[in-house]
Amino acid sequence: MNQNQDQWKTRIGFMLAAMGSAVGLGNIWRFPYVTGELGGATFLMVYLAFVFLIGIPLLLNEFSIGKAGQKDAVGSFKNLAPNTKWHWTGFMGVVGGILILSFYSVVAGWSLFYLYKYITGAYWTEPDAGFGAVFGEWIANPLYPLLWQALFLGLTLFIVIRGIKGGIEKANVILMPGLALLMIFMAGYVLTLDGAVEGLKFLFQPDWSQLSNPKLYLTALGQAFFSLSIGVSGMLTYASYLKSKDRLPAAAIGVGVMDTIFAVIAGIMIFPAVFSFGLEVGSGPPLVFITLPTIFASMPMGNIVGVVFFVLLAMAALSSAVSLLELPVSFFKRTVGMSRKAATYLCTIIIFVLGIASSLGFGIWSGVTFGDQNILGMIDYVTANFVIPFGALLMAFFVGWYLDKSQARKNSEIQSSAMFNIWYVIIKYIVPIILILIVVANLFNMTV
Ligand code: PFF
Repeated sequence: MNQNQDQWKTRIGFMLAAMGSAVGLGNIWRFPYVTGELGGATFLMVYLAFVFLIGIPLLLNEFSIGKAGQKDAVGSFKNLAPNTKWHWTGFMGVVGGILILSFYSVVAGWSLFYLYKYITGAYWTEPDAGFGAVFGEWIANPLYPLLWQALFLGLTLFIVIRGIKGGIEKANVILMPGLALLMIFMAGYVLTLDGAVEGLKFLFQPDWSQLSNPKLYLTALGQAFFSLSIGVSGMLTYASYLKSKDRLPAAAIGVGVMDTIFAVIAGIMIFPAVFSFGLEVGSGPPLVFITLPTIFASMPMGNIVGVVFFVLLAMAALSSAVSLLELPVSFFKRTVGMSRKAATYLCTIIIFVLGIASSLGFGIWSGVTFGDQNILGMIDYVTANFVIPFGALLMAFFVGWYLDKSQARKNSEIQSSAMFNIWYVIIKYIVPIILILIVVANLFNMTV
């Protein structure tokens, strides 16, 4: 295979792929339900502050390591810091990426199944038992959800095995603009429903008393990082396939802003609908699988809206899953020395096998719980609130404290000295302080 095959063809191709990684189940499934559980607008304000104050600077930080390292998560650290232990940061990312995709593919599998049900018309009207019971029974089945999860991972493999230019870039050039169009259509439609204003109030009118809830901060931070795909080196890996002249700061801002717009549009699409049908906003992970179908069944043109929504969810999940799979594949290919084909099959199999546990946690293994979390909830909680922030923290330390300031500046590709200084202070001091405070406060909170 020629060497350039593993490089982005165009800068916009890289941008779309990075946006594809960022925009995913995190925006459309996770963001609405955590926002619903944690008080709406107040959560949104804290979330936005985290995205802009530390999320986007950290995204640039991660891009800068990958672009300068020119290798996978582990290899890039080895290139930039030979004979040190820094590459363990990348290794932790590879493990984190595998864990995230193991449960991500379970939820993505549910989305594909719903899409099928909408296309065949089966969910156009509410089943007699109600969507809640039907969903609960289906996810508890020991076999069917696994088949849909396998199908989803098969699609992911199909793209990743074709490489950067021929697979990942091509897929994202189609998926991302398609996704944007569908979401705008959906949000526009939902806003015409009676009662939409209540939903908008919930999303945009803060209740400041919520600010004293410490869980709000950890969750907002975890959500911001998860949504921007930072901390596990997925974005580092994507940036390593860039050619020499690319404006990283513009890319980081573009991806961060787009990701946030998608999350807010998902909120605009979901909360007005939930309120106009008088349903529960804090229903947690099932929000998009139970609450929304209930709404679609009684809304004018709900069948079409249902098809569009689940196409959208599946597309968003796929473009993110592709980046989560590329992360370990790139490690096995470039640092371990396997072929892309073998690495892709190997990683997909590992991820599927691990994912079986998350899926069975809704059925025959539902007795395995940690606090009030089942297996999927636990892996999601640990990766989003600990592995990801810890990875992001290590990368901030790496650039802020290990690399020379001049090297950090060159790698960041920030032109203006003033902007560079602001960014550098954020990476060197502000990020470590905020992350340590939040993670420690929550460790403490968990034990008391
Ligand atoms: N950002 C993705 C989402 O919001 O769904 C999830 C994700 C993808 C996290 C890639 C981490 C990653 F490396």
